[in-house]
Amino acid sequence: MTWRTASAGRAAAPREGNFPPASPSWKSAAPERASSVAAESSSSVILVKKGDDPGMKVAVVGAGGLVGRRILSALEESKLPVSALVLTGHSRSVGKKMWFRGEEHPVIKTDVELLRRVDAVLLATPAEVSRQLVPPLGGGPLVVDTSSAFRLDEAVPLVVPEVNGPAVRRHRGVIAGPNCSTIQMVMVLHPLHHKYGLRRVVVTTYQSVSGAGYAAMKQLESEVRVWLASGKPVLVPRGDAFPYPIAFNLIPHIDAFTADGYTKEEMKLVLETRKILGLPDLPITATAVRVPVFVGHSESILVETDLAPDVDEARKVLASSPGIVVWDDPPSKTYPLPVMVEGKSQVFVGRVRRDLSSPRGLLLWVVADNLLRGAAVNAVGILETAYNMGLVQG
Ligand SMILES: NC(=O)c1ccc[n+]([C@@H]2O[C@H](COP(=O)([O-])OP(=O)(O)OC[C@H]3O[C@@H](n4cnc5c(N)ncnc54)[C@H](OP(=O)(O)O)[C@@H]3O)[C@@H](O)[C@H]2O)c1
Repeated sequence: MTWRTASAGRAAAPREGNFPPASPSWKSAAPERASSVAAESSSSVILVKKGDDPGMKVAVVGAGGLVGRRILSALEESKLPVSALVLTGHSRSVGKKMWFRGEEHPVIKTDVELLRRVDAVLLATPAEVSRQLVPPLGGGPLVVDTSSAFRLDEAVPLVVPEVNGPAVRRHRGVIAGPNCSTIQMVMVLHPLHHKYGLRRVVVTTYQSVSGAGYAAMKQLESEVRVWLASGKPVLVPRGDAFPYPIAFNLIPHIDAFTADGYTKEEMKLVLETRKILGLPDLPITATAVRVPVFVGHSESILVETDLAPDVDEARKVLASSPGIVVWDDPPSKTYPLPVMVEGKSQVFVGRVRRDLSSPRGLLLWVVADNLLRGAAVNAVGILETAYNMGLVQG
């Protein structure tokens, strides 16, 4: 059987035969090969352009991480001219080599002096690392940061290109990409706001373990293996990524708790959404749940609007919005699932329906690859937007 599409106008869903994958795709996603050679020193990285090459010198920091690898893929697929590429890391990836546009590039130790000499730096690093790296890069390259370090800083544009691309013009050296769960939500809220006006948003997220990085994926894998091999539930976490075992479990707790009982992850959804949409008073509330899925975040969203929405019209509004694909046909069981969207660059919407408790309510099921659409594609899209505006040049 093949996943069926809801209508000819909608994108085809993947084949059922793709699941389960022979090996988890997160293991093979990176165009990397382990190298027996010692890490090359930064002094061996050549940043000189060839002739009149108009390309940019680009660095990816954290290139060997989950997001960094997808940034490399997204950069490769983009039309951005890249004349020189610097890939850096910290420990695990240093000394490995990664492919980019037919050439192998070494992953070297992060070197701020080298980063200052490129045109654009894409940071796929933990927030505390981004916080340390950005100040010494000031006045140098354009920095696009995927971490939470600067997202709510008023001087830093927080950008989803399809929603508020022109905001990149306000940059003073750094542009932030939002949290993965925020990106897929604002991409859907934006066109609905234009058409109907947003009144209130209630969201519950079902977030994959890859949202917590590589170690979290290893923890899920390890707990599943032990559970199946022993035939007994794993009751003690086999890693530090989560406070409880995540295998065959759900954890209603992502990031630290705040004083009012919400988590920081939930407040990212609230505060980042308001900033990106330019709606500082938008009533919005969130519950973020970690689920035992490797890749792909899902969200159940209730949107209350000023104008009463028509469901068929809302589907059309979403389907014609950039970066959104509607898979929504209940009779044929067509709706997006995390396993279907892994490796895809769009945001997928299904289960669009009226809120039976309110004439102005619309319910939606929204799924996206958190690593690709929720981080890498967005970061490269920000760089493309800045390049097309002439804000960064080779
Ligand atoms: N995962 C998601 O779904 C997602 C979505 C949106 C945004 N983000 C953000 O993206 C960033 C990266 O997340 P991730 O999931 O890719 O994590 P990850 O898989 O753990 O990768 C982190 C990367 O950072 C590198 N690194 C660590 N310390 C460093 C240092 N001092 N200097 C240079 N590089 C250093 C690591 O290098 P080595 O490999 O050499 O150790 C690794 O490549 C985080 O800020 C995260 O919040 C993640």
